[in-house]
Amino acid sequence: KIVVIDYGNSYNQLLTRTIRELGVYSELYPHTVTADEIKGMNAVGIILSGGSNSLEEASALGIDPSIFELGLPILGISAGARLVAKHFGGKMSSMNEMDEASEVQVNGQSKLFNGLAAQQTVLVDKGEAVELPAGFTTVASSVARPVAAFENEDKHVYGLFFHPEAPETENGKEMLRQFITAVCGTGNSWTMERFIEIEVEKIRAQVGDKKVLCALSGGVDSSVVAALIHRAIGDQLTCIFVDHGLLRKGEVESVVDTFSNRFNMNFVKVDARKRFLDKLKGVTDPEQKRKTIGNEFIYVFDEESAKLKGIDFLAQGTIYADIIESGTATSETIKSHHNVGGLPEDMEFELIEPLKALFKDEVRAVGAALGLPSEIVHRQPFPGPGLGVRVLGEITEAKLDIVREADWILRDEIAKAGLDREIWQYFAVLPDIRSVGVRDGKRSYDYAVGIRAVHSVDGMTADWARVPWDVLEKISSRITAEVDHVNRVVYDITAKPPGTIEWE
Ligand code: XMP
Repeated sequence: KIVVIDYGNSYNQLLTRTIRELGVYSELYPHTVTADEIKGMNAVGIILSGGSNSLEEASALGIDPSIFELGLPILGISAGARLVAKHFGGKMSSMNEMDEASEVQVNGQSKLFNGLAAQQTVLVDKGEAVELPAGFTTVASSVARPVAAFENEDKHVYGLFFHPEAPETENGKEMLRQFITAVCGTGNSWTMERFIEIEVEKIRAQVGDKKVLCALSGGVDSSVVAALIHRAIGDQLTCIFVDHGLLRKGEVESVVDTFSNRFNMNFVKVDARKRFLDKLKGVTDPEQKRKTIGNEFIYVFDEESAKLKGIDFLAQGTIYADIIESGTATSETIKSHHNVGGLPEDMEFELIEPLKALFKDEVRAVGAALGLPSEIVHRQPFPGPGLGVRVLGEITEAKLDIVREADWILRDEIAKAGLDREIWQYFAVLPDIRSVGVRDGKRSYDYAVGIRAVHSVDGMTADWARVPWDVLEKISSRITAEVDHVNRVVYDITAKPPGTIEWE
């Protein structure tokens, strides 16, 4: 594997992801990682990643100097490159450039730039000029940045004062590939098929002949976990699927069909629709709704799992982003994001989290390799409280029907327009608004439906999708014609921030 030491740059996850795409397993580690720890990791190379704001910050964070004695190839990127230069005795002087794409001249003799044109567009970082330590040579430069990259081939040590992982660096991926193959001498060991083989073995070893429980929500992560564990231990796995009545049209059927019929799993479907609706009666405050739904889920799951005897393990769909994000996030709660599938803490199960090293698109690839249908593998993000936060105000069965039907039409038209993979998330909401309209020459007083479609990378920020007007027109005319009690459709043109993606 390639060890990426994290100095806080926002590109670091992308960097790790890119290395995996190039066929080598890679993981991010905090800057406090020690040489001894790395020794136990089967590492073939180390990358010191870029820093957050200033280069000073990264070098203040420091590095265990013994890491340089491990004899492993090292690539420093921006702040990381500075750490490398400093370690070997280089000198810095101040230079206040901004991050920007610019041209550098690279030396094709360097293993990193082998086969690339002499002039390259790269995203250079702001920071300082460097005076190289003895034994190092400059292998890329520009007028503004006389040392844009350096190396010591004998020591297998490289430094870049630009970001090969950034999209602005046109051949950045190629440079990383060269580092992996030509410098680290590795490649093509990380595939999803290989991942499945390894995990299946691990799960078998961990579980033995014991039993595993999995809370299946129908979302991508829990579905893939269930399929993977089922591949490993078959009938020793039981899945509980709580139908809280807040899923979209067709989802319950698709989950039942996939897991119960096609995979033939031990599958418990709990019809809790009435229970949830009863609990939600009269609840209008968004936070209160989320809490009610989350708590009720836990009660139902508790009850059902208590009926099953002799279970030792609980499988969870934790993925890599959950781990790295929860480690750093300090932002205040904007909404209480309770994942249905997020379970009570006092349960006495041992956890199995086989996806915890995977990025979302890797999880999807594993799901596809395990034979899950595309509608599950490519499911959009969906809030745990489901349609409960898409019916604003009090939730009733009638309102849920309206939003389900409108959403169904929206999904159909988006798919027909070929936009279903292009738009990150799209859905219908039912604001608690009625307005006047005319239908068949008569006055109507009916609901308005809101359409939300956004582009996003991680849900933290988003922009509204510029869905073509004729597609919106089709969606609007079908919803008003086909869904009872709807006489108006509005399109949400708010970015996040200041809006959130969901309306509640
Ligand atoms: P917001 O509305 O906060 O949503 O901008 C960001 C993303 O998170 C999804 N979302 C949730 N996901 N449990 C989840 O697992 C939740 O309670 C929840 N609430 C919102 C939302 O659909 C969007 O993709």
